[in-house]
Amino acid sequence: MRWIVNRREVEREVDMRTSLLDLLREHLHLFGAKKGCNQGACGACTILVDGERINSCLALAVQYEGREITTIEGLGEPGALHPLQQAFVEHDGFQCGYCTPGQICSATGMLDEAAKGWPSSATGDLNAAEVSLTDAEIRERMSGNICRCSAYPQILEAIRDVAGAVA
Ligand code: FES
Ligand code: FES
Repeated sequence: MRWIVNRREVEREVDMRTSLLDLLREHLHLFGAKKGCNQGACGACTILVDGERINSCLALAVQYEGREITTIEGLGEPGALHPLQQAFVEHDGFQCGYCTPGQICSATGMLDEAAKGWPSSATGDLNAAEVSLTDAEIRERMSGNICRCSAYPQILEAIRDVAGAVA
């Protein structure tokens, strides 16, 4: 089977029951995406598939054959960080760092969803042409990503900064 992972084509033969998360970690040795709960509850395994965020622990690798997968390793690199990676550093948006790759991948997908005008359950006016990323919107849209260290205020600040939103 083949996938495009972080802009490079990779080919592996894996058991049909292999999750996308296990493909990344066990077969491709990309350890950025974390296995927290392994049941879709914590968001530590969040990655982007064709630019949209998913929980990779709930996805089978075979389902995503041929798709473009981006992990935290593909978003930026030392010396050329993604704006969200930079913002997390500047705002101290982590403590142990375990949830951070998932937070940043999730925030990347979330900002794209908001730019497309997708509403959330915190959106007041469903007919508004643009989503205003208030703190309530950011919190709601990031609610699938749990931080055990409770670095939420700094995570919010980092995302708010990149979104260009005002507190
Ligand atoms: S490890 Fe996938 S949601 Fe927790
Ligand atoms: S920084 Fe430790 S779990 Fe979020």
